[in-house]
Amino acid sequence: MAAPSDVRPDSSIVTHELSKDYGSGDRAVHALDHVTLTIPGGTVFGLLGPNGAGKTTLIKVLTGITDPTGGAATVAGFNIRRDPMEVKARIGWVAAEVILDDDFTARENLWLQAKLQSLTNWQGRAEDLLKYFSLQDRADDKVSHFSTGMRKKLEIALALLHQPTVIFMDEPTIGLDVSTRRMLWDIVTGVHKEFGVTVLLTTHYIEEADALCDRIAIIDQGKILAEGTPSELKSRVKADIVQLETAQPIDPSLVAKIPGVQEVRAQGNDWLIRVASSEEFLPVLFRTIQPELIRRISVEKPSLETVFLDITGRRLGEDEPIRDVRKFYAQMRRARG
Ligand SMILES: Nc1ncnc2c1ncn2[C@@H]1O[C@H](COP(=O)(O)OP(=O)(O)OP(=O)(O)O)[C@@H](O)[C@H]1O
Ligand SMILES: [Mg+2]
Repeated sequence: MAAPSDVRPDSSIVTHELSKDYGSGDRAVHALDHVTLTIPGGTVFGLLGPNGAGKTTLIKVLTGITDPTGGAATVAGFNIRRDPMEVKARIGWVAAEVILDDDFTARENLWLQAKLQSLTNWQGRAEDLLKYFSLQDRADDKVSHFSTGMRKKLEIALALLHQPTVIFMDEPTIGLDVSTRRMLWDIVTGVHKEFGVTVLLTTHYIEEADALCDRIAIIDQGKILAEGTPSELKSRVKADIVQLETAQPIDPSLVAKIPGVQEVRAQGNDWLIRVASSEEFLPVLFRTIQPELIRRISVEKPSLETVFLDITGRRLGEDEPIRDVRKFYAQMRRARG
């Protein structure tokens, strides 16, 4: 049996049929629609979904900001309805919007946070956090003079001050430039390892979910559509997508009978071909149709983007569906039942 000091507190998040409606009757918005998830303690877990998917709502319900309409959830081993104060004591929250007081210094913001949470003996922890985030030299500067990256670091430091075991980060990198975003990825990974916290973050950046998260849930219109490690999710789509533009119409049956071809769709000179392996398909294609007739060719390997496309028929982050690809995937889904 493990010695008591080895026993880690429960830092998992478990939801069962969790629902949240805004409004009622015909006009109700099902922001969360029977969400059942198990987020193991000690993981970085990503909720990936488009605008309005329900990501922030899930965080608001789990952090006790708003009540669920139905279902149940535990955070760090405590029921969100029965033991909201126990939950609050164990969670940190990095909101999408800015929460810092600009007229205060970094140290004063930490002080304010400690007061808001009625913490005692927090000063040592605050200094450690300033040091950890390399903010100690600027700790007495007003936050209004901070760079975006420094502000984000301080926001995360505030969320860690009371030693939570679970941290929620709502769109931690939204609006950040590419280099600050990468820096923040390193910070999230570092915080997770250094402080041993479970991180639940939301994002609509596919590459962010892929790079950062141990596990990902794809959420759309309040429903969890898929969940797993990035590689598990990618392996759901077992095909490469070859897009082709030809100089003149070609008989589709020529392409359809190439071994490994699963689906051929042609619209005039534009083709979408789903194949088991593009490496095996392309050489045969070039022998089957004259290469001079090919104007443009592209290959899309399985990625979280194609997973999302496969499940929803839409590309993440694009309000306007891509005409051909969308139809192609919708047909594919129907064909598979
Ligand atoms: N307070 C509210 N009152 C009414 N409807 C709401 C409220 N908050 C959210 N909604 C609706 O619930 C749905 C989910 O919203 P939510 O903010 O959770 O989405 P999200 O995934 O966080 O989106 P985004 O990526 O834009 O932040 C949306 O249809 C939204 O309009
Ligand atoms: Mg949101």
